[in-house]
Amino acid sequence: HPDKLALPVGTTLDRFIMRKQEDFPYATGELSQLLRDIALAAKIVNREINRSGLIDIAGAYGNRNVQGEDQQKLDVIANIRFIRALRNGGEVCTIISEEDEEVIQTGNVQGKYIVAIDPLDGSSNIDVNVSIGTIFSIYRRVSPTGGEGTRQDCLQTGTHQVAAGYVVYGSSTMLVYTTGNGVNGFTYEPSLGEFFLSHPNIQTPATGAIYSINEGASATFSAGTTAFVAYCKEQNYSARYIGSLVADFHRNLLKGGIYMYPASAKAPQGKLRLMYECNPLAFIVEQAGGKATSGRCRILEIEPHEMHQRSPVFIGSSELVEKAEQFLAQDN
Ligand code: AHG
Ligand code: MN
Ligand code: MN
Ligand code: MN
Repeated sequence: HPDKLALPVGTTLDRFIMRKQEDFPYATGELSQLLRDIALAAKIVNREINRSGLIDIAGAYGNRNVQGEDQQKLDVIANIRFIRALRNGGEVCTIISEEDEEVIQTGNVQGKYIVAIDPLDGSSNIDVNVSIGTIFSIYRRVSPTGGEGTRQDCLQTGTHQVAAGYVVYGSSTMLVYTTGNGVNGFTYEPSLGEFFLSHPNIQTPATGAIYSINEGASATFSAGTTAFVAYCKEQNYSARYIGSLVADFHRNLLKGGIYMYPASAKAPQGKLRLMYECNPLAFIVEQAGGKATSGRCRILEIEPHEMHQRSPVFIGSSELVEKAEQFLAQDN
């Protein structure tokens, strides 16, 4: 009986974006085009990642980025691919990238959008065939079109995001995004070269039994973080930590759980970057019914004052994040 066959639902990402646009009769379609540009770059990066063991694009690039990290060749390649796609697309005037100290002015002075991007997340996992990702955040510019994007355009709080998403290059490649109206996930079909809607309207479980944190730094965690981690153990939660934020986040989003990158002595503001790691995932998690906090406030309400600024982050199922907040209150 054909109904018993698990045939793919058959909605491509392009068609889905187009349909969504029809819900907004006055939309000009520029945001739709921008999302398609990102999806195209993701396909190209996916191809590079898939063959990285065969050609010489794994390993270190021999340069240090503004974060003081040794760039991997794929960090550089992914950065070039996404910037090129956004520049060619024409909708984006200015890009903030993890791999570039200064903003990138695309030259598209009529572009209405600003993109903040972590082109390749989980660099330390590239060479060992473990899931990695891309994270992006989209803002509407506030300055009038006709000139370059300004500092004010680039340093908007997370609540102003118009869209955000990530790509996880895992056992299959997926693109997950929100435009503030729910979260949808698409799985890449490599032989067709298309993303298909596979996870419509993702809702994260209200609670879960997974906690994800790099406990190597536990000697210098705050009292609140230490107590919350002890609580997770008392509850017999499973510890899961890949070391690629996107992959850790994606697993917890679907299964329920909490991901934490707290402040420590080594990283007094935590490690993860507000503009292109914390904010986009916070937008997605809230749209899926979850929560994200720095321990002091909602991630999306943090006022950015620097493009590469960091923030501690506790993100995931709402009940677990609320529990963490109770423990973290003692640090404030
Ligand atoms: P990136 O590879 O983009 O620099 O991000 C690295 C981040 C993130 O992916 C991951 O969750 C975290 O660093 C892991 O840090 P630790 O090795 O300190 O746990
Ligand atoms: Mn990095
Ligand atoms: Mn990252
Ligand atoms: Mn990165």
